[in-house]
Amino acid sequence: MKVLVVGQGGREHAILWQIKKSEKVKKLYCAPGNGGTTSIAENVPIRPDDISGLLDFCAKEKIDLTVVGPEIPLALGIVDSFQERDLRIFGPTKAAARLEASKVFTKELCDDENIPTAWFEIFTDVKKAKDFIKSKGAPIVIKADGLAAGKGVVVAKDIDEALDAVDEILVKKAFGSSGERLIAEEYLEGEEASVIVVSDGENIVPLASSQDHKRIFDRDEGPNTGGMGAYSPAPVVTDKVFNDTVSKIIKPAISGMKRKGITFKGVLYAGVMVTKSGPKLLEFNARFGDPETQAIFPRLDSDLLELMNLSIDGSLKNYELKWSKKACVCVVMASGGYPGKYEKGKEIHGLERAGGLNDAFVFHAGTRLENDKILTDGGRVLNVIGLGDGIRKAIDKTYEACGVIKFDGMHYRKDIGYRALERTKTVNRKP
Ligand code: AMP
Ligand code: GLY
Repeated sequence: MKVLVVGQGGREHAILWQIKKSEKVKKLYCAPGNGGTTSIAENVPIRPDDISGLLDFCAKEKIDLTVVGPEIPLALGIVDSFQERDLRIFGPTKAAARLEASKVFTKELCDDENIPTAWFEIFTDVKKAKDFIKSKGAPIVIKADGLAAGKGVVVAKDIDEALDAVDEILVKKAFGSSGERLIAEEYLEGEEASVIVVSDGENIVPLASSQDHKRIFDRDEGPNTGGMGAYSPAPVVTDKVFNDTVSKIIKPAISGMKRKGITFKGVLYAGVMVTKSGPKLLEFNARFGDPETQAIFPRLDSDLLELMNLSIDGSLKNYELKWSKKACVCVVMASGGYPGKYEKGKEIHGLERAGGLNDAFVFHAGTRLENDKILTDGGRVLNVIGLGDGIRKAIDKTYEACGVIKFDGMHYRKDIGYRALERTKTVNRKP
């Protein structure tokens, strides 16, 4: 099979790396890819939102399967366009991807299907939004309706911060049409986790649990980022939390969509807050998480290509994935200044040494290959991966690999996996 992966981050490098293991794969492409994907795939210079460019490429090269990494092409309807041209593609249609592309759509579905989530109100009017916020008080969470690259959510500690967020979204239009509607919702306390499944529209197959580290600084301080690291499995996802998330959140969402005439095929990612009264939905994504995927796939002992094909064909019933018992950690190495302004083009040293360590390797994110050198080319540059028997060993292995990589201005969190470590200590279990 000839397979195209759309995207350019660490998630897409991890997808390619996992697909390449399949015996059925003859040739891999990545559009547009990065400095690391060149080692396993041919990079093609087409942007993920250039749907007609991708369509033409797949028709001309007779690509057997296209896998979409990021949310934007899904929200633009890449799956519908490919299906119209009889090209095989893994992922949800535009209508199904609304579960990620519109937070208002998802909140309304939660209401219809009794899915546990924070209480909420939807606003288009500035005064009504502000009056509501003043009557509820802080902390309170303000969200733009549409896609905003993870920046459309403000967890407001005081009322002024919440009122400013209303101005940003509804008055200054900081997120354009994504901010035509706004949600004000209850602040939930607890620990976050990601439960990701693959659906064929009817049946689901869960991936291993994981936890993301969204804040820039250690101990989850500072601004939100695209994700500074992740690990799998996540002990906060006990059997009860997992079963509740699947039975009260994921399955009702898929059957609720079906009632609306929408078949959800592809990846459904539930970001949940594990509260004292159980898991509550924070957000759905209609794609693999980044950087969760980079911590999950190294543990997968089954054929990812087969999983995706079964999803497309509606044949996931009774299908189960096999997982390594090892823990896996992913640490994101970022450019100096990220998540604010940063420079590109810094040479990266030590990649071969890091990749040569046992049970450690590197997925590239914001990198490019130029004159045989790997240079930085984005905010989140590398995903350093380590495996081990238990979270402690996986953490140590990952940081050993981080220790041999150098580029000007690089920074990374030193505490990825700390919550898992603390849980392991509390219950006095062997890691
Ligand atoms: P979202 O894109 O909706 O998942 O929000 C981004 C991040 O904001 C989440 O990962 C949480 O850290 C935080 N967040 C979102 N909604 C809430 C909430 N209702 N209560 C507390 N934190 C939240
Ligand atoms: N790690 C969060 C996301 O992929 O949206």
